[in-house]
Amino acid sequence: MNPSSLPGHPFIAYQSGALCVEQVRLSELARTHGTPLFVYSKAAMLSALAAYQRGFAGRKAQICYAMKANSTLGVLQVFAQAGCGFDIVSGGELARVLAAGGDPAKVIFSGVGKTRTEMQQALQAGIGCFNVESAAELDVLNKVAESMGQQACVSLRVNPNVDPKTHPYISTGLKGSKFGVAHEQAVNFYQHAARLRGLKVVGIDCHIGSQITEVTPFLDATDRMLDLVTQIEAAGVPIHHIDFGGGLGINYNGDTPPEADALWAQLLAKLDARGFGDRQLMIEPGRSLVGNSGVCLSEVLFLKPGEQKNFCIIDAAMNDLPRPAMYQAYHHIIPVHPRDGAAEVFDVVGPICESGDWIGRDRALNVQPGDVLAVLSAGAYCMSMSSNYNTRGRAAEVLVDGDQVHLIRERESVLDTFKLEHLPI
Ligand code: LLP
Repeated sequence: MNPSSLPGHPFIAYQSGALCVEQVRLSELARTHGTPLFVYSKAAMLSALAAYQRGFAGRKAQICYAMKANSTLGVLQVFAQAGCGFDIVSGGELARVLAAGGDPAKVIFSGVGKTRTEMQQALQAGIGCFNVESAAELDVLNKVAESMGQQACVSLRVNPNVDPKTHPYISTGLKGSKFGVAHEQAVNFYQHAARLRGLKVVGIDCHIGSQITEVTPFLDATDRMLDLVTQIEAAGVPIHHIDFGGGLGINYNGDTPPEADALWAQLLAKLDARGFGDRQLMIEPGRSLVGNSGVCLSEVLFLKPGEQKNFCIIDAAMNDLPRPAMYQAYHHIIPVHPRDGAAEVFDVVGPICESGDWIGRDRALNVQPGDVLAVLSAGAYCMSMSSNYNTRGRAAEVLVDGDQVHLIRERESVLDTFKLEHLPI
């Protein structure tokens, strides 16, 4: 990768030999806040959101940020203030939306395993819609809503049996996946739901997978959903909104996903051609709103030459950046101050006691202990999936806005990691 231009990262660039996020030098942030440190660009988030907003101009559309990608309050506030709703998957995520000033009426609640308590919490808060995934859930939600004297607005997640051509762990729309209800059963489900007094059918949804870099799977899923809308409405159940889920990929390593506005131009053309252009549209993007807005800074601890491999041991690990270990994911790793001279090839690894703790393999780097590296594309599914494995406190996070720096999460101390534990004697 050519370090002077960072494709897909418009707000992260080298300025006079120093890597910056917007107008702030990353080496200064590492000095002030320590490492590992997540740094996010507010402008990058808003620019990713703007691509969707352009795509939906003139349409009835609600963008619900899938906050599992990055659920830090300071990040949620950026999207809440920009008018976004939220796609949540737990009572915990609902509490975060409310704490960040999000509008509960713009919340949709996804997920295969909602508890009764979570259903109650969501009804009390007045969320916009439950995306229901099974007959059992439909019946339990109906009972919970009835017992509270309320009607729960529901959409059924249908499984369109479309291959998103992505990693199997993040592929969700094929037969055999635990998600959604089978296409063939959907009409029966809707007729059943429409008879339940505690429920109000408002929509239909699907989500076929994540890090999708082609348009065709989205177009195919849309066709399958529209076929169903026609059948469901013919059976007497009106569908007010169509929710297309999330899944648009980002550029990690030369990936070329469509821009959000270009993707939506094609999807809207299909909706118009099939006579559904006037429907309320919903989407649940996560990664594409935050993924390339963030980097993780990490200090080089040691260089360790080996017989077969050279290792560059850094202070960030799989507990901070779990995607390489979990999905063999690729993240660019670049120095915040590039050195002159020849590079060597290293495996970049963390301090955790597992061979799976690698961040990048076979990377050409010219580095010395004490240098700071930036792991790119770290805005999505990094902090939100981080853990305390090996009793490592979680990293700190800062949000950059122009030349302003906001600390949005303090570094977790070791004491924090065991403060809820008790000695038995
Ligand atoms: N809606 C639903 C129902 C979802 O399950 C997901 C993601 C999204 C929306 C947002 O998808 P996105 O736009 O972010 O692709 N940890 C994995 C990704 C897991 C995605 C889970 N569901 C990774 O790091 O690649």
